[in-house]
Amino acid sequence: MPTPRKVAHQSTDKGQVPVYTTAVVEQPWASYSAQDHQTWGTLFRRQRELLVGRACDEFMENQQRLGIGADAIPKFTDLDRHLRAATGWKLVAVEGLLPELAFFEHLAAREFPVTWWIRKPQQIDYLSEPDLFHDLFGHVPLLLNPIFADYMQAYGAGGVRAATFGNEPLTNLTRLYWYTVEFGLIRTPAGLRIYGAGIVSSKGESIYSLESAAPNRIDFEVRRVMRTRYRIDTFQKTYFVIDSFEDLFKATVDPDFGPIYYDLKGLDSIPAGTILDSDQVVHRGTGEGWASDGDI
Ligand code: PHE
Ligand code: CO
Repeated sequence: MPTPRKVAHQSTDKGQVPVYTTAVVEQPWASYSAQDHQTWGTLFRRQRELLVGRACDEFMENQQRLGIGADAIPKFTDLDRHLRAATGWKLVAVEGLLPELAFFEHLAAREFPVTWWIRKPQQIDYLSEPDLFHDLFGHVPLLLNPIFADYMQAYGAGGVRAATFGNEPLTNLTRLYWYTVEFGLIRTPAGLRIYGAGIVSSKGESIYSLESAAPNRIDFEVRRVMRTRYRIDTFQKTYFVIDSFEDLFKATVDPDFGPIYYDLKGLDSIPAGTILDSDQVVHRGTGEGWASDGDI
């Protein structure tokens, strides 16, 4: 079997340009180099230690249940056995970023796309696109949680449906994914904890999201989130806090988003760092170090 392609963002004079690919491949596990396994191990050890007392229990416990460690890059087929037994999800290996609709269709079928390749050593602290470490370490653990697993599937189905309504609904839904699945915080008796995959796979943001005075932390509210722009190249200016995965589910899966998309149509989007009078503010950010432009 030929080694699948690695499809990564292209560097141009206009910066990093995303390249999309829909192929589903087989994880070429035998092709990983000693360096690749070492990169995985370094990141695994570092984040696992950093996340004690920072990531929520559901993340930490389910990640442990997966039986993965620092020794070697996990085999997707080994993880599939745990996923199948717990929630019926499976992993599909992909070459890079999927177009939106293809991504939604996989989620709706309880298939989670995981990039087969891992970052280079010089990208240990940051790369501008998802790789195996982000996808696997960050996203897969919560797929063992039954409520979160159902949320992800419903999100995929909701995405397929939103695509039939047009661009604005799609943008609304993408923001929801960003501020929950990627950058969500959750309230627990012990304090705020991380559940977003974009945070748990980043050393800097794992500390910043909880401990920095700079960003806003605001109670999750679905319409509010759907109007809020975000950052793809810096830490977030605002994090949204859910009370539980049950609450997230009730606020998103239960309601029909059709009328909500309709209400939101034509409303101004909210800049990433803005606080509204109607917000339930957990922490009002100082805004220190914020970039003045670049919300998308
Ligand atoms: N309830 C949403 C709809 O009617 C679907 C959805 C579920 C969206 C979960 C996001 C997350 O379209
Ligand atoms: Co991600």
